[in-house]
Amino acid sequence: MKIAWGITGSGDKIIETVELMERLEGECDIEIVPYASKEGEVVLKFYKLLKRVKGVFPGYKVERSANAPFLASKLQLGKFDLLLIAPATANTVAKIAHGIADTLLTNAALQAIKTNLPVYIYPVDQEVGEVTTILPNGKKMKLHVRKEDVKNVETLRNMDGITVLKTLDEIREVIACD
Ligand SMILES: Cc1cc2nc3c(=O)[nH]c(=O)nc-3n(C[C@H](O)[C@H](O)[C@H](O)COP(=O)(O)O)c2cc1C
Repeated sequence: MKIAWGITGSGDKIIETVELMERLEGECDIEIVPYASKEGEVVLKFYKLLKRVKGVFPGYKVERSANAPFLASKLQLGKFDLLLIAPATANTVAKIAHGIADTLLTNAALQAIKTNLPVYIYPVDQEVGEVTTILPNGKKMKLHVRKEDVKNVETLRNMDGITVLKTLDEIREVIACD
C-alpha cells in the first residue's frame, strides 16, 4: 500500500505523528511518501524533526504551491492508495471544510475526492476545551480549542469522501496493520 502522508503546520501531535510514521514504515507492508505544507516544514524544523523525516523517508516533499509538486494529479491518476493528512491544522481543516483548495494539501484532498480516492484526516482540534501540547523546547502549554474549529471538523465528518480520524492510532486500522 502506498500512502501520500500530508503533514501540516501543527506543533500539536507533530512528535507523536513522526514517531508513528517511523513505526508504521518499519512494521507494516506500506510505503509512506510525506508531503509537508510550507508551514508543515517550518514546524518540523521548529521541533528539530525535519532531518529525521527526510532521513527515514527519502521521498519527502514540501509544498511550493497548490500544484507543485503536482500531488493532486498523482492522486487522481491512482499513484497512491490513499491520502492521509495528519496532523491537520485548524487552518487546513477550515479550508477543506469550505472547499478552498489553495494549498498543496487542501487542493490534494479536494481533488482526490473527485476521483473517489480515500481521504483520511486527523485534525488536532477535535473537542472544545483545553488541550495540553508540547512546545519545541519540550515544555508543556495549555491551549483552548475553539468551537468554530470543532464545527469545521464536524463539517468534514459530513463531507462525502472524507473520513475524519479521532485518534492517531486509528491509522493502523485504515492500513490494516496491527
Ligand atoms: C511552532 C508552531 C506550532 C503550531 N502549532 C499549531 C497547532 O497545534 N495547531 C494549529 O492549528 N496551528 C498551529 N500552528 C499555526 C499553523 O502553522 C498556521 O496556521 C499555518 O498557516 C498552517 O498552515 P497549513 O495548514 O497550510 O499547514 C503552529 C505554528 C507554529 C510556528
